[in-house]
Parts: sequence; C-alpha cells; structure tokens
Amino acid sequence: MLHHGAIPERVYLNHISPLWYHQMAGPLVSSRPTLRRLSRARLLQDTNNKMQQIDSIGFAVRGALYHCPVKGEFEYHADALVLVDHQGQITEVLTPEAPGFAARCAALSEANELTELAEGQYLMPGMVDLHVHAPQWPQAGKGLDLPLYDWLQDYTFPLEAKFADVTFAREVYPHLVNALLANGTTSAVYFATVHNPASVALAEICLELGQRGYIGKVNMDDPDQCPPYYIESTEQGLADTEAFIQQVRALPGNEQQLVNPVITPRFVPSCTRAMLQGLGELAQRYHCHVQTHCSESDWARDYSQAHYGQSDVEIYQSMGLLTDRTILAHSIFLSDSDMAAIRDAGAAIAHCPLSNTYFANAAMKTREVLDGDLQVGLGTDLAGAPIPSVFHTCLDAVNHSRAREDGTNTHLPAQQRGEAGSRVSFLEAYWMATVGGGLAIDAKVGLFAPGYAFDALVVDANAPDSDLYLPEGMDTPRDRLEKLISLTRRQNIRTVWVQGRKVIQK
Ligand code: GUN
Ligand code: FE
Repeated sequence: MLHHGAIPERVYLNHISPLWYHQMAGPLVSSRPTLRRLSRARLLQDTNNKMQQIDSIGFAVRGALYHCPVKGEFEYHADALVLVDHQGQITEVLTPEAPGFAARCAALSEANELTELAEGQYLMPGMVDLHVHAPQWPQAGKGLDLPLYDWLQDYTFPLEAKFADVTFAREVYPHLVNALLANGTTSAVYFATVHNPASVALAEICLELGQRGYIGKVNMDDPDQCPPYYIESTEQGLADTEAFIQQVRALPGNEQQLVNPVITPRFVPSCTRAMLQGLGELAQRYHCHVQTHCSESDWARDYSQAHYGQSDVEIYQSMGLLTDRTILAHSIFLSDSDMAAIRDAGAAIAHCPLSNTYFANAAMKTREVLDGDLQVGLGTDLAGAPIPSVFHTCLDAVNHSRAREDGTNTHLPAQQRGEAGSRVSFLEAYWMATVGGGLAIDAKVGLFAPGYAFDALVVDANAPDSDLYLPEGMDTPRDRLEKLISLTRRQNIRTVWVQGRKVIQK
C-alpha cells in the first residue's frame, strides 16, 4: 500500500503509563439507530459520517490479537478490529462490545478494506531488533568459538572492509533486510561499516523494502586497535558522519523518517578520545540517536579501565554520548552508579543474550535492569550470534537468565550455585522485544493503540511445516502466547506490515 496525504508529526515518547494506554484505547464508535426510524436527512447524514469514517482509514484488520503493553503482563482479544489510516497509523482498536462493531465491520468489508484473520492466526506487534551488524550477515555462524578480540580481527574486520565496494553492499544488504522482515523484525537498529556510500545504501534498501531502520555509519580511528586496511582518520570520520546524517534525513521517500541516522562509535577501543568527543558534539547538534557497544566482555571492560580509569558508561557520559537517544549494546559489567547514570540519562540497553553467551564472559543483569526501570529491549547482535529472529532472542533471554539464576557448578550446593531470583519471564522477554524496543528507538511501535504506527505481524499456527501446535481446548490464552513466543518461526509469519505498508505476504 502506498502512502499519501499529510505527513504526521513525529511524536517522541519517553514513558508509556498503563493508565495513558488504557485511556487511548477506549471504544470509539457511537451506536447507529435502526434505519427504519431515520428521516431521509438523518439517513444522508449518517451515510456521510460512515463514508467519512471509512475514507479516513486505509484499511482494517480483524482477528485474534495479542500484545503486552505492560511489562510482564499481556492482553488477549479473541476478536479485535484495528483500523489504520492512510499514513499507516492506528486510529482505533475496537472489540465486539463497542457499539456499532458489527455494522462497522460490514461497512469495511463492503468497501473492500477489511482483512479478516483465519482460525489459528494471530495479530501481533512487529518485533524490534536493537542491535544488528548488517555487513556481518555473510559471516553469520562463523568463528563463534573464538573470543571477541580474535573474532573481530580474523573474521569481522576483513569482511567489513569489503563494503568499500558499494556494489558488494547492494548484494548483501537486501538479502539481510528481507530475512529480518520475513522473521518479523519491523524495526532494526543497524551498525553498517565506516563507508558512507554503503551505509547510505543500507538506508535506501530499508526504505525500498519498507523496514523502519536506524542506521549507523561506524566510526573507528584508533590505529592501535584498527587494522590499517579498515580505519578512518578522525577528521574524515567526523566529516563523513555529519554528511551521512544529512544524507539519510534527506533521502527521497523518507518524509516520514522511516529511516534515521545513528551516531555509531564502534566501541571504546576502536575510537580515539578526539573521535568520541567530536561524535558527542554531533549528537547534541543533530539531536541524533547514538549506538555503541558498552562493557561487553572482560577484555573490553579492562581496556577502558586501563586507558581511561573509567567504565564505558562514564566514558560515554563524559563525551556527551550518553543521551536519551542512546542505545548501549550488551552492558554486562555495570556498577550501581553506571545503572543510575543510564536511567537518569534516559538511555536504553540492547540486551543481546545469545551473543553474551559467546562473548561476554558473564551473565547480563537483566533482572536488575528491568526492576530498576531502565529502558531495555532485545538485540540479535547478528553476527555475534547467528540467528536473525527476535522471537528466538526472547527464548535466548529467558534461557540466559535461567542459567544465571541456577548457576552451573555442580560442586556447589544449590543455594550457592547461582543468583537467586534473577530469572526473566517469557512475557518480560516479549515486552522487551516489542514495547521496550519501541521506547528505545523513540517510536510509537510495539503495541496496538490509537496513535501508534501499524507495525504488525500475522502469525499463523497452521502454516505449512509449522512447529506451532495449538490444538483446540488445550491452552489458556497465556499458554498460547507463551507458545507463540517460543515457537514462532519464519514459516509462521504470513504477513508483515510496517507503518501500514504490507512488506511481506506469503
Ligand atoms: N565489539 C566491537 N565490535 C563488535 C562487533 O562487531 N560485534 C560484537 N558482538 N561486539 C563488538
Ligand atoms: Fe555488536
């Protein structure tokens, strides 16, 4: 579906309170008197109103709906009607108790504007992936027995250097963006490479294929850590970053800011002090998102202590890089004061559980982050982990927390083995993948309510080759949602919409 009409103003959210959400989601249709009792004038007016209501929407979807507006909780409607306007925004969410529901559905169906889901299909919010290395897609699944430093030097940097050739980028990136969309990722926060043309190409490909994209041209200028074939000078890196921000914001077709530039110092070891400072200034000047790796392994943590005598959070803060638009990948070794600084800045954490299992040398304090009300969503960290699915990442987040809770050393008694009370529930993981991710990117996505973008999936338990088995009468609504979170795979995702545009249909 193409968009036309006025471009809505972007609205940035820092917090959604449950109360606000429920106010927004109230029933919205007034009841229609029976036709028999209407005068002709009244009938005309009623018809006009109905036509106006239908004209202002682009389409509607009716079916069973799940979402998790409140952390750790869920909402299920066996039958819901979601109305979407021509800009791809949700205007109304109705259930059959709403007056006029049946008539509204009939009118939409008559106007050919209604998609009705079948038995076994569920409307769910699109997934948000807060941390993806786009150029590493050809590397997915390689070298993950290595520690982080060797993996970067032996596999990652030689591959990323190839993106100096924009033709190579134009081969790799569409395959990745399509794979992520097909796996239900409607919003993705990407690291690209140091190269401007290839990074702009990634933004163009997201726009073409219809994915909400947050895209960073990577900065790395420290000759002690970056190989000579994959490095930029400080001056050139800062100039390229500024040009990149302007280019992405001005891309034709990007009037709704579906793709956004992100300031992207790779991590502390790859950047000089001057680079970090310069990027901090650009972040303030352009009010841009920022992304980077934060305290992701023993080696990275020790590097920052040895070179700055500070934690990564303290370094980013002192450089002006810890803002309410910052996304910190990993963030494993956080002190209490680091956590407070992240919360006070309104920055967000991208929790990447499977990558942490390979590279972090420790477990993420996800429980403390959730309980401390820090902003947090999930990231696949492709290709620090090989699986392009945020559904799978939900399962990884649960598993990671359970290993931490129970511990692993069988020589210790159970009470000393792990960290009691640190588990994360399936519903909390799913909240991070949807609402938490939406808050981190300052976009109204991740749930169904008026004013939110229609970024949504149809998950189909009856798809061919499905492992999702939902036999009649055996599951409560909560059971079913837990199964959907655990077992939804690419083949189950039939339809994907981003900002109301249908980008996958199978
Ligand atoms: N730290 C610095 N660069 C990278 C990267 O490409 N992947 C991961 N997982 N960690 C990093
Ligand atoms: Fe990463």
